[in-house]
Amino acid sequence: MLILYFSRSGNTRSLAKHIHRRVGGDIIELETVAPYPPDYDAVVEQARQEQRRNARPEIRTSIPHPETYDTVFIGYPNWWGTMPMPLFTLLETQPLGRKTVIPFCTHEGSGFGHSRQDLQRLCPEARMLEGLAVRGSQVEDARADVDAWLRKLGLLSA
Ligand SMILES: Cc1cc2nc3c(=O)[nH]c(=O)nc-3n(C[C@H](O)[C@H](O)[C@H](O)COP(=O)(O)O)c2cc1C
Repeated sequence: MLILYFSRSGNTRSLAKHIHRRVGGDIIELETVAPYPPDYDAVVEQARQEQRRNARPEIRTSIPHPETYDTVFIGYPNWWGTMPMPLFTLLETQPLGRKTVIPFCTHEGSGFGHSRQDLQRLCPEARMLEGLAVRGSQVEDARADVDAWLRKLGLLSA
């Protein structure tokens, strides 16, 4: 199992680490060559431009030995209704093929937006399982919900 995630301000990272503690496997944070600005207004504007241009920001992360995984969790913040564009870069560079994909996202009101459809388009052969969307500001309080979701997926025994 692999948990692959992108996070700028830490909410998705915290959720990814919790999932990792529960299900094990490997965990990889997707990093860009140019870091996103810490200033909120600046990143909101940059992300809007990247989406408008359908950009593929350069990334410094790749998945080592992707053939060793049959299940990949993919976590990200909702940015303007979908995944941050660096995930598009990664999934086009390293297509996941027939793996099982489990999306999770953090957001501030729009849930997954249209990210799951975009993800399925990027991974047309993947089997997509039910994902989980958590409010970024409530990640720390959502542990029980996360565990219930993992149990439902059959990935948590107790
Ligand atoms: C560039 C940008 C765009 C965002 N767009 C949305 C959005 O369209 N809908 C939404 O509910 N939240 C939106 N958010 C809020 C984030 O999804 C939320 O704060 C998330 O938990 C951040 O995750 P992170 O801490 O892992 O980076 C946006 C945040 C940023 C920085």
